[in-house]
Amino acid sequence: MSGLKIALIHNLKPSVKAEGVPADYYSECDSPKTVQAIMKGLAASGHAVFPVEADRHLPEWLKDHPVDLAFNIAEGFHGDAREARIPALLELLEIPYTGSGVLTLTLALDKAKSKQLFRFAGVPTPNFQVFTRPDEPLDARLHFPLIVKPNGEGSAKGIWASSVVHNESALRTQVQKVQQQYRQEVLVEEYIDGVELTVGILGEDDLLPILEIDFSDCSASGEFFYSWRMKEFQGNKELHLAPRFWCPARLTPTVARAVQAVALKAARSVGFRDVARVDIRLSFDGIPFVLEVNPLPGLDPEESNLPFMAQAAGLSYEALLQRLVNLALERSRQSGKLATPSLLQGGEVLSSIPSSDKAVPMSPPPQSRVLPGSVEKGSGSPGNPAMAVRRVPPRSGEPRNDDPKEEDLGR
Ligand SMILES: Nc1ncnc2c1ncn2[C@@H]1O[C@H](COP(=O)(O)OP(=O)(O)O)[C@@H](O)[C@H]1O
Ligand SMILES: [Mg+2]
Repeated sequence: MSGLKIALIHNLKPSVKAEGVPADYYSECDSPKTVQAIMKGLAASGHAVFPVEADRHLPEWLKDHPVDLAFNIAEGFHGDAREARIPALLELLEIPYTGSGVLTLTLALDKAKSKQLFRFAGVPTPNFQVFTRPDEPLDARLHFPLIVKPNGEGSAKGIWASSVVHNESALRTQVQKVQQQYRQEVLVEEYIDGVELTVGILGEDDLLPILEIDFSDCSASGEFFYSWRMKEFQGNKELHLAPRFWCPARLTPTVARAVQAVALKAARSVGFRDVARVDIRLSFDGIPFVLEVNPLPGLDPEESNLPFMAQAAGLSYEALLQRLVNLALERSRQSGKLATPSLLQGGEVLSSIPSSDKAVPMSPPPQSRVLPGSVEKGSGSPGNPAMAVRRVPPRSGEPRNDDPKEEDLGR
């Protein structure tokens, strides 16, 4: 069986933090463990996988190592288009790649711009204001509590328990802190008390079962939402940072469908391709407020949410990765731009790849497809014992060299 030559383009989490960058600066980067898991998962489908760092040496490397496809998980460093750099390079070199393109990766990284597009598409999103200076007048239409976030980061970078503020003076202190550390615009949003949900989408409109993240057991940690500490130490019971995961979420089928529909609309409004994870807070009065679209969702098989949701739909980790490969190949075939001759050899390569449609039987409803395991087939009523409860391997509470100091955490 012959597979493809795949470059796994990534940014590895450095073992030593550079001077002068925030303590959580590298949180979006992938760990060696994640990179190895993706390599192994792709190799299981018969591919030859070459891990390569997304840095300034990449153009040279790609010249010296012709590949059939790039599997892109690079988050990039610096600048408002950091996630789009690799897709831009790959387009220049006419190398097919997985996932979203340049425009989507740029837009989705800008939370405020994304929210403008959500609004235009009729997608509920919390009321907000962008601060370029801490002393800007506060829009009187915003209601406390508010949450303060860097406008162009992910993995909850710059988001701590102290990010939720209850008065104007706390707001200004927090805006100043985020601006100092991240040197970018600061997004201030109304804090939505409610249920934390995330929705995975594959292909054009295949919806994975909704994942609910329940923080009610975490109150002793002082954290009460998906903050940086909650993500970084996820599963650590000693630190009381072990949220409960419900997949499918404990929603009625009607609410679940509404949540999925809104998620798909949001992802489409930024033009996602192949895969996205849409973060949502469902208010207690039932409005699914979209926070952001993640076109580069984490792919760690044990710790990331998307593979877990895929698994709940009966899609193994290997099948999920292969699905992403197939989608990229299909696109490059349709555009008539097959990057290298090896893809043209008699269909041999493609026929060796199991199609995800074979791996996961799906039944297409009219507008979008809902993968098995979702509320469509499972039972979505609250407290249903059939729901999967996720076990996340606990992370150590020992200080690591990339851990923020207490003062960085704003606690
Ligand atoms: N407006 C909000 N209301 C309630 N919680 C929020 C709000 N914005 C962010 N959060 C919390 O912070 C987490 C991270 O915020 P998010 O906007 O998704 O940024 P990131 O890109 O870092 O994941 C969310 O998953 C949620 O728990
Ligand atoms: Mg998020």
